[in-house]
Amino acid sequence: MDAVDEDRAGAREEPMRWIRAAGRGLLVAAVVLAGHVSAGAGAAPGPARGDGRGPMTLATAGDLTGYLGPLLEGWNRGHPDERVTLVELPDSADETRAQLTTSLRSGDGRYDVLNMDVTWTSEFAAAGWIAPLEAKHFPVGSFLRPVLDTATYRETLYAVPYVTNAGMLYYRKDVLDRAGVSPPSSWAELEKQAKTLAPRFGLGGYAGQFLPYEGLTVNATEAVYSAGGSILDGEGRVAVDSPAVRTGLGFLARGVRDGWIPREALTYTEEESRQAFQDGRLLFLRNWPYAYAGASGADSRVAGKFGAVPLPGPRGSGTSVLGGSNLAVSARARHPESARDLIAYLTSAPVQRKVLTEGALPPVRAELYQDPELVRRFPYLPALRASVLSAAARPKSTRYDQVSLAVQAVVHDAMAQHQNPGDSVRRLARELSAITDRG
Ligand code: GLC
Repeated sequence: MDAVDEDRAGAREEPMRWIRAAGRGLLVAAVVLAGHVSAGAGAAPGPARGDGRGPMTLATAGDLTGYLGPLLEGWNRGHPDERVTLVELPDSADETRAQLTTSLRSGDGRYDVLNMDVTWTSEFAAAGWIAPLEAKHFPVGSFLRPVLDTATYRETLYAVPYVTNAGMLYYRKDVLDRAGVSPPSSWAELEKQAKTLAPRFGLGGYAGQFLPYEGLTVNATEAVYSAGGSILDGEGRVAVDSPAVRTGLGFLARGVRDGWIPREALTYTEEESRQAFQDGRLLFLRNWPYAYAGASGADSRVAGKFGAVPLPGPRGSGTSVLGGSNLAVSARARHPESARDLIAYLTSAPVQRKVLTEGALPPVRAELYQDPELVRRFPYLPALRASVLSAAARPKSTRYDQVSLAVQAVVHDAMAQHQNPGDSVRRLARELSAITDRG
């Protein structure tokens, strides 16, 4: 796959919503504290029609590109009796999950449509919080192949793919050009350039999302998959005590020990790491495609000076984790027919196009990745499509949250140099065995 150079991207033409999103942060924080946010007017209950139709809420993790409110207004204009109110929860997947599960467990029925991280399907379905869906209502044949599997539990559809995601390696093209080198296509090259080149140009070497939260599970799982290992095997048995897992964690821990991963990166989520890159403080960054738009924006110091390539691994190309989110209908939804139609609307071709053009998020409909007009505006689409098609899912487990918490804690300790990678891997094997009962 070719490197994608920002100056060819035309991405600067994209409406930049970062400032708006940043300003909105305070508002979101205030309403999250208050426990509820309504981004659209019309939060009032409205007429219940007894036919499964009426107003509803859509709960989502933070809308980092500020596109979802306007998008839902498109639905609201055409459905005045079935208005949807956006409820924005925190940015991080873990905090959003915590708020959703507290509400769903208490049965308060506050949320009708749930925008769920792809890893929550098994847990939410097994708990009876989300309703099974009939595939015939949704364009399931139009989705990129791997995304549908994340929406099923025990061969039943419980959600509908909405956004997909795959990690990319962002690099400073101007710096690599001056040094006369190509972007790294293996860990050895990445490590060498981060170690030797970055300090020469006054930059930090490499960062990802290394705060202990779901983002660190993603980064660690990618390192493990890239080295040929896995966390749980196909039958859900613990698979971490292997040389490949030690290689994966060793790569991340060594980066901090040898200084080519700045210690500060141990506190980064997606947003802090994006900011560090677009402030011109990093040579390399692992992040999702949404960061491309921010780094191309008017307030970015690296606009026109960066590119993005697939993630490297120890033997050439690495493996990205499959990210993204699916839409589900709460088992207690007040108006399930309207909820179902809203999901069909959000996965329709014109709305999916806007998910990319307005939201800078990777759509789930396969045809958009080959649309010449979109490929011209977002030249990274072909590379992204290949990354999504070869991305590997995180373990499917009804206890995924606990699996992830164990991975985050152990990997963070290894990266902070509190425990060596060998001991970390043995500890992780013990903890995961206790969680899964399947050592
Ligand atoms: C992105 C991904 C999601 C992942 C999260 C981790 O939102 O789409 O799947 O869990 O990042 O921070």
